[in-house]
Amino acid sequence: MTSAEMVAALGDRLKHTQLVVVANREPYIHLRQMREPSGFWDWLRGLRESQEVITWIRPASGLVTALDPVMRASGGTWVAHGSGNADRESSDAHGRVRVPPDRPSYTLRRVWLSEEEERGYYYGLSNGAIWPLCHIAYSRPEFNESDWEAYSQVNRRFAETVLEEIGDKPAIVFIQDYHFALLPRFIKDARPDVIVCQFWHIPWPNPEVFRVCPWAEQMLHGLLGNDLLSFHIQYHCNNFLSTVERTLEARVDYERFAVVRGGHPTIVKAFPISIDPDLWSAGKSVDRALEAREIRRSIGVGDQRMIFGIDRLDYTKGIPDRIRAFERMLKRHPEWREKVVFVQIGAPSRDQLPRYKALSQEVDDAVASVNDTYGTMSWRPVVYVREHRDPADIAAMYRAADVCVVSSLHDGMNLVAKEFIAARTDLRGVLVLSRFTGAARELQEAVLVNPFAVDEFADALNTALAMSPEQQTRRMRVLHARVRNETVYDWAAGILRAACGMAEAV
Ligand code: G6P
Repeated sequence: MTSAEMVAALGDRLKHTQLVVVANREPYIHLRQMREPSGFWDWLRGLRESQEVITWIRPASGLVTALDPVMRASGGTWVAHGSGNADRESSDAHGRVRVPPDRPSYTLRRVWLSEEEERGYYYGLSNGAIWPLCHIAYSRPEFNESDWEAYSQVNRRFAETVLEEIGDKPAIVFIQDYHFALLPRFIKDARPDVIVCQFWHIPWPNPEVFRVCPWAEQMLHGLLGNDLLSFHIQYHCNNFLSTVERTLEARVDYERFAVVRGGHPTIVKAFPISIDPDLWSAGKSVDRALEAREIRRSIGVGDQRMIFGIDRLDYTKGIPDRIRAFERMLKRHPEWREKVVFVQIGAPSRDQLPRYKALSQEVDDAVASVNDTYGTMSWRPVVYVREHRDPADIAAMYRAADVCVVSSLHDGMNLVAKEFIAARTDLRGVLVLSRFTGAARELQEAVLVNPFAVDEFADALNTALAMSPEQQTRRMRVLHARVRNETVYDWAAGILRAACGMAEAV
């Protein structure tokens, strides 16, 4: 489904009900930066020295990638933490600004948090406790009472902001992710008539894992304030239902996949998220061969084959594991030496947390190990770029690559896998995909790997590099059709249609 088809499918249903999306991450961040004068036009404008300017960026977030097109198409309000250093001066007195900045089509309402609140709620509880708890990637969650207090307080503040935005009108509130386990209950208690839905973008673990959380009951009670709670895959829904069953006094109805607590039902349903394939298939340049040569040259790849990875620098993504697998491949299959370059782009993320600092070091060490062992005067086996790239560049890299590697140790879905497929309108290229991503359930024609098994992974890279063009096309054709068939608009329409149905039944 396209965005226009989604709007048509929802018809007038959203016209009478406002849509409020809540996500911690804002879709546009305003930043104050120094800009150097460059070129004739700056000279003409009188810009002779570097100057402070306000710019905006789109953050590296699967969630933002998925929801921004939906919001553009349907309007409404996105409530988020205003985290940019120029956000305040770019918003009105209430923290509101119309976005996208270059083509305003919906409202962003920013919530201001103190440094202390951000430390406790975002770094502490959300990313130091819930993220590792749900991903089970062998990183111990850290539970601190003061983080929990900050998390509760910030959830309350978001609830007040949402209630202010909806006034006394009917509304659907669509909450995103693990930053807001308590928010649905706060909204529902204040406005039982408002439809509250939440999408949990990360895995939900089994009850044995979840039970170590000191606030397990409170989190579940909060989440059951939702009318609809959704996950990427049925497996996570099942884990959630059995966690509730073992933790709370509530009736789990396996016929309807619902939990009834205090007379209020919460439907628990899987809606696999996706992308807008058109955003990835439209290239900057029509001449694809030239585009590929240029982008390869800009990152230091010549005529060699190119393996490509792009991720937020997160320990769940298995970045050191894929570099070690590449190193093992060069050992086991020496015929690839000097013939292939591994390009890894890593967007810095959550780097105030010790676990993320350690990951950064681990990636540097893994890259140095391959380059020191196998590099020659004319060949650097791994090119590692630690920065944020814009989507047009990323699309060009997807097209220039021979192989794209997604090796998460555990991942709710993973949209890089789908973006790569959508970008390959030439039906070439090979996706090497971790079995432990939600995406692997849909994308079975990829070369599936266990990223923990270094030799198996190394052989998978060899298989991918050696795959014949006919074989690549055969697999890619199926993958491509699947990604084009189930877009982010199908995901959003599915959830919003269910929400509208609930709103009409009130
Ligand atoms: C994952 C989460 C999102 C989050 C994103 C980026 O995709 O599910 O909620 O926005 O990571 O992380 P960040 O901490 O930068 O928002």
